[in-house]
Amino acid sequence: MASLGVSDICKSFGTTTVLDHVHLDIRDGEFLSLVGPSGCGKTTLLRIIAGLDHADSGSVSIAGAPVDQLPPKRRDVAMVFQSYALYPYMTVGGNLSLPLVMRRLSRWQRMPLAGRFWPGSARVRQAITAAVAEVASLLGLSGLLDRRPAQLSGGQRQRVALGRAMVRQPQVFLMDEPLSNLDAKLRAATRTEIAELHRRLQATFVYVTHDQVEAMTMSDRVAMMMDGRILQLATPQEIYDDPCELRVAEFIGTPRINTLGATRSGDALLVGGQRWPLAVPGDDGRQLTVAIRPEWWTIRDTGLAGDDARCVASGQVRHLELLGSQTLVHVSVDGHPQGLVATVEPERARGLRIGAAIALAAPDRRVLVFDAAGVRVRLPAPSARQPRALADG
Ligand SMILES: Nc1ncnc2c1ncn2[C@@H]1O[C@H](COP(=O)(O)OP(=O)(O)O)[C@@H](O)[C@H]1O
Ligand SMILES: [Mg+2]
Repeated sequence: MASLGVSDICKSFGTTTVLDHVHLDIRDGEFLSLVGPSGCGKTTLLRIIAGLDHADSGSVSIAGAPVDQLPPKRRDVAMVFQSYALYPYMTVGGNLSLPLVMRRLSRWQRMPLAGRFWPGSARVRQAITAAVAEVASLLGLSGLLDRRPAQLSGGQRQRVALGRAMVRQPQVFLMDEPLSNLDAKLRAATRTEIAELHRRLQATFVYVTHDQVEAMTMSDRVAMMMDGRILQLATPQEIYDDPCELRVAEFIGTPRINTLGATRSGDALLVGGQRWPLAVPGDDGRQLTVAIRPEWWTIRDTGLAGDDARCVASGQVRHLELLGSQTLVHVSVDGHPQGLVATVEPERARGLRIGAAIALAAPDRRVLVFDAAGVRVRLPAPSARQPRALADG
């Protein structure tokens, strides 16, 4: 197992820049997800790490050593693709053993008849059979070794593809949207399987996906990629709670984060006719965006004022989505066409009626502020303001 370093990689196809100075440091044994919208350069980056494609500039290193000059098979990485790419006329056992057969047996040894009598081939074949049996048992494929891919379900085929990567015991696994051909239910189950597999193998995983749920649920860290750049590399919780850019905040999390236009006014922001006590640097009139996750809102009882929740948005209930464990309250707000969504306990939503007035409140430490370019404006934490005021006095 090994660490993986990607340093200052650039890649263009014609005049289109696909990777723009990409840096990544992936720790030994880490599960890192590379997440981003379709077309942002994820597959290209993975192919460059695997050696299937060449970067225009920059370097890839495995276990601290540059591998740029090494062909794919000498990099000791295994890539699992979106399409399973199994050999249809081979059995599951044949598909699983192929990488080892190609690697460990010579051309003569591989021949069906002559190979059997070639010196040493019996011993190697035994070792291959043992390795395949081990991987098959780990992935629950032991009973399927004689089947052909067409006789397997999508999830089983995906496991064979995974198994084929595993038999070689590579230092690094590269997975390119391996679950995208599975239906939703199977995807959720396989997600758990892959996470467990990672724990058991303790190998370094780079997992590419456009599905933020996969990235958030499986990874030690998430690299958020857009337009050929890594925007943020952090734990799932950090990316969720503390995004560095508005487009990161909007990509991660369902329902999507709520955004509202805001204007600086003294030591507050004007948001939909309300004053939110957020001190933002800059001049009055500065245009900003505030963003609040749906579950950070609470429904504020009209007529009651609370100091804990001073960032208030009011409007009308537009729609209620009852999900069972929670209810999504859609609120229309004057002057904010996209409206807001709040996630609340079903109990709390029971009294709500479509069209009725509603006020939502968020604690000010939960409000994320972004500038006109979508870059995060970090505000001093409320507890940090106090000592400075004392020091000034
Ligand atoms: N071989 C190629 N020739 C030309 N353009 C390519 C090639 N491979 C990828 N691209 C372009 O590079 C961009 C990134 O592609 P890709 O890495 O496949 O993105 P992702 O995997 O994130 O969806 C896309 O705009 C795609 O059209
Ligand atoms: Mg891709």
